[in-house]
Amino acid sequence: MEKREQWGSRVGFILAAAGSAVGLGNIWRYPYIAYDNGGGAFLIPYLFALFTAGIPILLLEYAIGQKMRGSAPLSFRRLNEKWEWLGWWQAGISFFIVTYYMVIIGWSLSFTYFSFGRQWGEDTEAFMLGDYLGVANLTEGSWFGGLQWNVFVPVVIMWAITFYILYRGVRRGIETATKILMPILVIVMIIITIRGITLPGASAGLNALLEPDWTAMANPQVWVAAYGQIFFSLSIAFAIMITYSSYLPKKTDLANNGFIVAFANSGFEFLAALAVFGTIGYLAMVSGVGVDEAVNSGIVLAFIVFPQIINTLPGMNDLFGFLFFGALTLAGLTSAISIAEVCISAVREKFNLTRDRAVIWVCGIGFLVSMIYVTSGGLNFLDIVDYAVNQFGIVFAGLVEVILLSWFYKLTTFRDHINELSDLRIGGWWDVCLKYVTPIVLIVMGGMNVYNEIVEGPYGGYPFGQVAIAGYAVAIGVIIVGFIFQNMKWRSEGAMDT
Ligand code: PHE
Ligand code: NA
Repeated sequence: MEKREQWGSRVGFILAAAGSAVGLGNIWRYPYIAYDNGGGAFLIPYLFALFTAGIPILLLEYAIGQKMRGSAPLSFRRLNEKWEWLGWWQAGISFFIVTYYMVIIGWSLSFTYFSFGRQWGEDTEAFMLGDYLGVANLTEGSWFGGLQWNVFVPVVIMWAITFYILYRGVRRGIETATKILMPILVIVMIIITIRGITLPGASAGLNALLEPDWTAMANPQVWVAAYGQIFFSLSIAFAIMITYSSYLPKKTDLANNGFIVAFANSGFEFLAALAVFGTIGYLAMVSGVGVDEAVNSGIVLAFIVFPQIINTLPGMNDLFGFLFFGALTLAGLTSAISIAEVCISAVREKFNLTRDRAVIWVCGIGFLVSMIYVTSGGLNFLDIVDYAVNQFGIVFAGLVEVILLSWFYKLTTFRDHINELSDLRIGGWWDVCLKYVTPIVLIVMGGMNVYNEIVEGPYGGYPFGQVAIAGYAVAIGVIIVGFIFQNMKWRSEGAMDT
């Protein structure tokens, strides 16, 4: 039997966990979420969510993985035989995330390359939707359209890199890669931020970002947005942290590690927000477009507004573009590795596969699913899957996780475990957050999301059939698959225990 893999050092674990946390969510999601939800005032719900849900769940997941020494399904099974499906549910969510996440980092890779000589030209929207994604050429009524070769190639490259890193294993692959990539990312982010906030006009953008709208605090949507950002951004509630901490040595300080990772992640969000809004302020100045109009959600912001800004920058545009999209690609890569590893460790333990085989299966099937989003109609599906996993998958899997562990299991087992290993002592506040605060917020959040879906009809105005397949079927399918897997025979329970 193979021995359980282990991180080579504490720094290695922290960098890998921070590498997972710091991703597309920090660079393109946080800035507009903060802006849309009260600007400077958003910091209050954000910090509240961080301390009542983010850090408590992060520590809980570290404790589960490190104590139970298994992938998510195995760890939950060891807590209670009937809970294995929760691990599979979370692994299923992770699987769907990795399939589309790889495509977005493929785009980032393309745009890193396009930065040389700014191959996107003047009208970046027409470029992105037409030439690049091919959405504009999609014939009416066609769901998928044709394969986009210019998207296919970078996606294959990113999958190949991910495959290679995972194939090499926890220490020689994931740890080595993050040790190289994370320092580069920190430096690049600092350069971009300095450039962003020193551009002419930057102050208008920064004002727009930071100006507190206190009325937002009375709006429950704003609080829900803060929790949503924290869950996605810290990569909690879909088994990543359980998986990564299952490779920790038996004696490790958990509380310290958790705080370091959480603060590093927030630090990246704040840097990215400054960089993005400084740059948008510049755009507002040169183009006369209001900051308001320039801010847009994810894909549009990163791949349409940003290239447009880069075009007009005073000097060294190519370098700025290269660094911005390079950072997006690297941040995304270290996250993608962590999501794929969730599925790899799960199937590896259940079916007693070697790492090589598990990597081939997960990356192989993941790659095939990715191909859907590489067609000209693929953007719809990408958007719907993203919506389904975030609004329903993570919220409900997170809810079930905290309820099972805090109501039907002795939470103090984990608190004692953490405290025994750590310098920092975790007090009773931790139990209160997990038992009451987080479940209440998640119930409200899930309820609002379901209500909106019912009242407003299929998400995003997409055809019902598409939302039914990529949305409802995916969100419910991963739960069903969880039960199916739970009822399959374990080929290697405890095989990689030590
Ligand atoms: N935490 C990552 C981010 O902020 C997102 C992520 C999602 C990472 C899923 C891993 C898995 O972008
Ligand atoms: Na993040």
